Amino acid sequence: DKGNHRHFMQKEIYEQPEVLSHTLGAFVDMSSGRTRIPDGQDLDFSKIRRIALSACGTGFYAALVGRYYFERFAGIPCDLDVASEFRYRESPLGDVDLALFVSQSGETADTLASLRYAKSQGLKTAAIVNVQESTIARESDFVLPTLAGPEIGVASTKAFTCQLMALAALAIRAGVDRGVITPERELELTRTLTEAPRLANEAIRLEEVIERLARDMATKSHALFLGRGFSYPLALEGALKLKEISYIHAEGYAAGELKHGPIALIDETMPVVVVAPHDRSFEKTISNVQEVAARGGEIILITDASGAASGAVEGAQMIVLPDMPEILTPIVYAIPLQLLAYHTAIQMGTDVDQPRNLAKSVTVE
Ligand code: F6R
Repeated sequence: DKGNHRHFMQKEIYEQPEVLSHTLGAFVDMSSGRTRIPDGQDLDFSKIRRIALSACGTGFYAALVGRYYFERFAGIPCDLDVASEFRYRESPLGDVDLALFVSQSGETADTLASLRYAKSQGLKTAAIVNVQESTIARESDFVLPTLAGPEIGVASTKAFTCQLMALAALAIRAGVDRGVITPERELELTRTLTEAPRLANEAIRLEEVIERLARDMATKSHALFLGRGFSYPLALEGALKLKEISYIHAEGYAAGELKHGPIALIDETMPVVVVAPHDRSFEKTISNVQEVAARGGEIILITDASGAASGAVEGAQMIVLPDMPEILTPIVYAIPLQLLAYHTAIQMGTDVDQPRNLAKSVTVE
């Protein structure tokens, strides 16, 4: 049932404030503010030397944010592979002590095969999954639930942001286990995570602004998405979302890679969506964006009040979110990217919930 919404995708975008708070509740005890592993499972990060993360598609981009989180908040180095590579690469696992998989459906063939490979190598396995009765949930040593509820739209939205929430909370937990996060800092970080639903609502309120930008996007045949640091995976996710439902060719790049090739594509017909909260990467991202502006590229800057006030890029179209701590930016910035893809697809008249050639659950490799 789509309720008042035109598509499941829109409904699921709107559900994010609520399901983010459910997911957070699985990983944080709300009365004490302490992180926890759901259902009292005995997952302890204190002796984990390295984590191997693997997933497909949007789950892979969540895992990429997860790597930044684990490295930043827990000091745990991470390996990262798309599951279709991990399962066949037979890379030496070295000091990897935990394999962590991310999957909405819990049935993705390559992710399941990667889980089985990790087990065959004697690794402990954990899975962030949305469908609790799935094969991946059954076969992992530790099940880390996202509580996004059923996701019907083929393009993943709420499952993605709930995966990010789970990863953020886990990274904090890991930092506590390893003694790199003090109890006070833990409380501060979990209090920050409780702000996500409110900020997600603020992002959703930008829908009309984004819809106007989407009308223009729908006249294009290509788009570039850029981001740095925590926002790099978001650029990849924004491009994936746009291409899969609007069929506009879109590519995501780390902003610093621009001058190593993609800048050759920039002319007046190329829209460039830049994900740039006013964080430690901001100045560097903006200097890349100025190179785009100088070549006539059309810029859509997704930033915050501080970023907008810096007046950094003249003539850019802006989507302006409130300022927020950096741990929240991947979660909140996902929403304007979802809405941009959604409204562009509507303009194009595509089948938003059932895009051509795609299946919700990819059970063959
Ligand atoms: C993109 C999308 C796909 C899935 C991928 C993995 O919007 O939905 O890229 O993320 O097929 O699926 P799960 O998470 O079910 O393993």
